[in-house]
Amino acid sequence: MAQQERVVYLNGRIVPESQAGIPIRDAGFIYGDAVFDAARTFNGQVFRMREHIDRLYDSCKYLRLDPGMSRERMVELTTEVVERNVPLLGPNEDYWVTQRVTRGVEATSPGEESHNTVLIECRPLPLAKRAHYYRTGIPLLTPSVPRIPPRFMSPRAKTHNYLNLVLGDLEVHDSDPDAWALLLDESGNLAEGRGSNVFIVKDGVVSTPRLQMVLAGITRQTVLDLAASLKIPAEERDIDLFDAYTADEVFLTSTSLCICPVPSVNGMAPGDGKVPGPVTERLMGAFSDLVGMDYVSQYLAHLR
Ligand code: PDD
Repeated sequence: MAQQERVVYLNGRIVPESQAGIPIRDAGFIYGDAVFDAARTFNGQVFRMREHIDRLYDSCKYLRLDPGMSRERMVELTTEVVERNVPLLGPNEDYWVTQRVTRGVEATSPGEESHNTVLIECRPLPLAKRAHYYRTGIPLLTPSVPRIPPRFMSPRAKTHNYLNLVLGDLEVHDSDPDAWALLLDESGNLAEGRGSNVFIVKDGVVSTPRLQMVLAGITRQTVLDLAASLKIPAEERDIDLFDAYTADEVFLTSTSLCICPVPSVNGMAPGDGKVPGPVTERLMGAFSDLVGMDYVSQYLAHLR
């Protein structure tokens, strides 16, 4: 009988999503003591899977968490879960593909075993919810809460601790429900959004915040590689609000967005306000070529 429901991998077994549960005392749930990574499919194929798994294992190491399996095994299991779920994708849909490792339930009585939780799951991308942004761009507002400084907890570890970013989002959504938060670092330079890295373009040069201050976005790196192949000069440097306000173009990158233009930062339109700007448009086209799919058309196909 054809599979009716998506399946997940959870602690050694592949089970239907509705039958997957974690213990109420799982450290990932009660303390945020967990890491994750999220890739996406294009036409049902996971993009840059190995880079995502490598980042997952770096995050595990930073938290002294043992995923309990090799990177190769994690790739194998992820491939199996995706293959089982791809037939359930709707037309013009694709998945977020997420692995999570938590510290499990703390052993409190003598002889009690404690084991880490490992989850692999697929979730349809929010294409309809985000489709309009590929017409208007994503307006950014900078909240009062700064991004956690790297020495307090490295933003390069993709942990379950998103409260810093969630607080920024909540504050911004109270001002403009359609805007996304762009957190500044404690020096007032641009850092990142809840699920995205940021780039500006000025006089033909593409710039993005330094790696130490943000999540090492796989899409961020892909865009830097594309800029190099297109001979577009690119820099990783401190970028403050003066730079953002006087930029010619601004855009966001993430696994789910790929590249999405930004029409304003705190109400200030970069350049002539037309989105996407010429350099952003070139990079968006090159990204679609790289992944073998016009990701903007996929989003726009879901415009309500
Ligand atoms: N984006 N910064 C943060 C805090 C993130 O959570 C993410 C992940 C990014 C972009 O990184 P990448 O290009 O590797 O996705 C930056 C999630 C997975 C997403 O929205 O797709």
